[in-house]
Amino acid sequence: MTAAPDTRLSGEARAIPAKLAVTRLNLTNFRSYAVGELVTAGAAVVLAGQNGAGKTNILDAISLLSPGRGLRGAKLAEHVRKGPTAPSETLWAVAATVRRGETEYEIGTGFTEQAASRQVRLNGVEAKSSAELGDVVQMVWLTPAMDRLFIESASGRRRFLDRLVLGFEPSHARATTRYETAMRERARLLKYGPRDPAWLDGLENEMAQAGVIIAAARASTVARLNRALAGRDGAFPAALLALAGEDFNTADALREALARSRIRDAESGRTQAGPHLADLATRHTQKRADARDCSTGEQKALLISIMLAFARELAEARDGLAPLLLLDEIAAHLDAIRRAALFEEISDLSAQAWMTGTDLSLFDGARAQIFEVRDGLFHEAGA
Ligand SMILES: Nc1ncnc2c1ncn2[C@@H]1O[C@H](COP(=O)(O)OP(=O)(O)O)[C@@H](O)[C@H]1O
Ligand SMILES: [Mg+2]
Repeated sequence: MTAAPDTRLSGEARAIPAKLAVTRLNLTNFRSYAVGELVTAGAAVVLAGQNGAGKTNILDAISLLSPGRGLRGAKLAEHVRKGPTAPSETLWAVAATVRRGETEYEIGTGFTEQAASRQVRLNGVEAKSSAELGDVVQMVWLTPAMDRLFIESASGRRRFLDRLVLGFEPSHARATTRYETAMRERARLLKYGPRDPAWLDGLENEMAQAGVIIAAARASTVARLNRALAGRDGAFPAALLALAGEDFNTADALREALARSRIRDAESGRTQAGPHLADLATRHTQKRADARDCSTGEQKALLISIMLAFARELAEARDGLAPLLLLDEIAAHLDAIRRAALFEEISDLSAQAWMTGTDLSLFDGARAQIFEVRDGLFHEAGA
C-alpha cells in the first residue's frame, strides 16, 4: 500500500482490504430502495448522508447476510418497499458477493408471499435456513438503539451476546432454533392441551439438549471475550463480563427444572426456567462499577470495547478474518480522540467496518472508501 497524502478523499487509497468483506450489494424492493447497487473495494466503508437518505437500510440489508432477523429485528414483511417497486419475483431481495479469504461467495436472500421464512441461496443453492449463513459471514453491529443496552431489558443483552456467540459457534443459530421451536410447542401444549406427559417429556428433553449447548457456547464466548477485555485501557476501557441467571450445567438439571415448572408455566403462560432467560452482566473494571451505573458515554465506550474484543478474538481464531462491523451513527457520540482510536482499531483489525453518519467530517482520518448516499444512489467521494 502506497502512502497517500492525508486528505479525506484519499481515504480509499489508504484503506486496507479486509479478508472478510462484502464487495457487491444489490437490493430489490428493499425498504427505501426499488433497486440499489453498491460495489466496494472490500475495505472499510463510510456511508454519509442526510437523515432518511437510506444509510441504515443498507446496514440492515447487510445484516441479513447472517442468520436471524437482522439489525432492526424486523419482521420479514417490514422490509418490503412501500411505494414504487421494481418488477421482481420476490417481495424483497438482497444479493451480495462476499469475499472470504481467497474464496468468493454469492449470497441471496429474500422473501416471497408463499414462504413463511426468508429464502436463502448460497452460491445458487437453496439453503435450509438462514442458519447456514453463520458459516460464511460473521458480523456484529452497534446501533443507536443499543445505546440503552445496559439499562434496558435482558433480552437485548441476550441477543447481543448470542450474535457474538454465533461468530465463534455458527451452530449456535441451529441450537437456538431447536430450543425455541420446542419451547413454543411445549407452551402451546400447556395452554391448549393435550397435556400428554410423554409428549411434554420429549419436548423438554429437546429443550434440555439444545439448552446445554446454548449455555456452554455462551460461557465459552464470555471467557474468550474476558480474555480480550482484560487489561485494556485508553479510549475503550477494560471490562469483565459474566453470565447471569440460573445456571443449568447438565441437560438433566434443565430437564428436571422444566418438568417441575409445568403447572407454573401453564398458569403464567411463560416458560420460567431455561437459557432463554439468561442475562449478560458487564462491569467497568477501572471504575469498579456495573455498566448500568456508568454514564451514557462510558456505556458506549464499553460496548465498543466488547465489540472490539470480539473482533480481535474472532480474527485470531479464524486466520485473521475479522468480522464485518456494522456501526450505525457510530461517530456521532464519540469525541475526536475516541473516534480516532476507533478508526485505528478498525485499521489494525483489517476489518470491513460499515460506518454511517450525517457529516463527512466525522470520518476524518478513517481509512475507508467513502460514499455519499443521496436520492437512493451512492456517490463515491473523490471518484
Ligand atoms: N419498507 C419501507 N418502504 C419504503 N421506505 C422505507 C421502508 N422502511 C423505511 N423506509 C424509509 O427509508 C428511508 C431511509 O431510512 P434509513 O436508512 O433509516 O435512513 P438513514 O439514512 O437516516 O439511516 C426513510 O425515509 C424511511 O421512511
Ligand atoms: Mg440511520
